[in-house]
Amino acid sequence: MRIGVLTGGGDCPGLNAVIRAVVRKGVESYGHEFVGFRDGWKGPLEGSTMTLDVAATRGILPRGGTILGSSRTNPIKVDGGIEKIENNLDALGVDGLIAIGGEDTLGVATRLAGHGLRVVGVPKTIDNDLNATDFTFGFDTAVQIAVDAIDRLHTTAESHHRVLIVEVMGRHAGWIALHSGLAGGANVILIPERPFDIDAVCGYIEKRFARHYAPIVVVAEGATPKEGTMKLADQGVDSFGHVRLGGIGQVLEMEIQARTGYESRQTVLGHVQRGGTPTAFDRVLATRFGLHAIDAMNDGESGVMVALRGTEIERVPLTAATSELKLVPLERYEEVEVFFG
Ligand code: F6P
Repeated sequence: MRIGVLTGGGDCPGLNAVIRAVVRKGVESYGHEFVGFRDGWKGPLEGSTMTLDVAATRGILPRGGTILGSSRTNPIKVDGGIEKIENNLDALGVDGLIAIGGEDTLGVATRLAGHGLRVVGVPKTIDNDLNATDFTFGFDTAVQIAVDAIDRLHTTAESHHRVLIVEVMGRHAGWIALHSGLAGGANVILIPERPFDIDAVCGYIEKRFARHYAPIVVVAEGATPKEGTMKLADQGVDSFGHVRLGGIGQVLEMEIQARTGYESRQTVLGHVQRGGTPTAFDRVLATRFGLHAIDAMNDGESGVMVALRGTEIERVPLTAATSELKLVPLERYEEVEVFFG
């Protein structure tokens, strides 16, 4: 077979480990050939390719980013986009496509599978918000990066008796905030699933200072105040209609300082969480996803995604992964509230 591979959406540590595993097993166990598509769906849309053989994947296991490049191109929004992809794949003699991505990339993969194209999906996102898989690779690395930052911020917060606010990624889901806040000993964790009450946040801060410790507030970028309690700035949207986030940390910095009188400083971790080398956990998960994805393609599967269920990798319908997001259940959030304040 001649198999196309692409990585779409926000990059994350572990993408190269998937690519390496797919190619290595595909070539050595099954004798397949590969075509690398550049920059997510832009590659098949424009017929933009690169060589993808065993030599091209040597030494990439620990490397962050993706050798294929990525983009948030949405071919569904392009006039005749799906037909263009079908024609380009035909012209290149591609029999099937392995799409490595999050909800948006896999949403397009689902559409293409519906058009009869052979597609296998691999779940990727630092946000860990894809349904039907217990974990996505990239999440463990992002959490570790955030925890390292929180550990450092604790010491400077103590020296200056300041409130330190750490804004982490998480557009719709607060998994990074929840896990990094818990592992880093945060005093308040704010997530998108649970609109916050600024009075309660300030109450936790006062309580923490009363115990002679300086508080750390971990806030997911998509967290919002309860309606009508605080004003947030309007932002632009990307081609999948997602609002460009970032800014809640700054709003909290000003609001907390004004309300409590304690000096406050924000740190926005931003894309640092997506960069650099993957943790061992993510390298193993990404490699296993890659091995199972090429097996699925070789077995003639289509419209499926590989998923982690417990400790096993299973095949699930792509539709199960893309129909809704995996959000933090309220009871998981309430579990950690005992550490607030
Ligand atoms: O989906 C992954 C993610 O890192 C989100 O956590 C974040 O909101 C978004 O991507 C940022 O996207 P961009 O890199 O396009 O600004």
